[in-house]
Amino acid sequence: MNVIVLENASAIGQAAGDMVCELVSRRPNAVLGLATGSSPVPAYRRMIERCGAGEVSFREVTTFNLDEYCGLPAEHKNSYRTFMREELFSQVDIPLGNTNFLDGNCADEAAESARYSRALEAAGGVELQILGIGRNGHIGFNEPGEAFTQEAYKVALTPSTIEANSPYFTDRPMPAYAMTMGVGQILRARKIILIATGEAKADAVRAMLEGEITPRCPASALQGHPDVTVYLDPAAAGEASI
Ligand code: F6R
Repeated sequence: MNVIVLENASAIGQAAGDMVCELVSRRPNAVLGLATGSSPVPAYRRMIERCGAGEVSFREVTTFNLDEYCGLPAEHKNSYRTFMREELFSQVDIPLGNTNFLDGNCADEAAESARYSRALEAAGGVELQILGIGRNGHIGFNEPGEAFTQEAYKVALTPSTIEANSPYFTDRPMPAYAMTMGVGQILRARKIILIATGEAKADAVRAMLEGEITPRCPASALQGHPDVTVYLDPAAAGEASI
């Protein structure tokens, strides 16, 4: 993995956002895999800035988001669909019809997973995947477990994830379940950027970079991917020997 430590989240956002913009300038119809949460927001701001300046257009880009909560109306302020609309889609020129999400309210999760796999395949797969990492080493919402997951599925969120994300929920308790792309699916992206900032991520980052490849740290699976760039601030880099 190519590990780059930059001074802060905004420098990381600039570098990661520029990587996305350069890809889209070269290939205007690129397929992007996107994450929610705080880590990618500065990169999204950079993409918005460069789109606003006319340096890049997302008109022909297709996106697939990693995950979505179960049991939240799609229009709820904490749904990942709403998050993406507010933090990126409404501020660039991508048509909303080009953006794809797992349906957290699906009645049949196997059918929903198959639908997402088919859509991904029909789009030619993800060219560039943006990831954050959970304090417990999750990527997407693939929580630590006994086996690496493959295609999308419904996951029970762990206490660590519920503790990390609950503060965002002010009008109701955070959902206990989510639909997420599987680790196998994430690894099929041709190129991956992972962003981690802050001390709370240092243990997970160390396990991802230096630990054994094990489903107990889902992000460790990235060690087996040929093209991963990891952007860290000094606090997240912690004691990892980089
Ligand atoms: C969200 C996602 C999660 C987050 C992770 C880190 O779509 O896939 O894996 O990337 O929970 O969240 P933040 O960036 O909020 O610390």
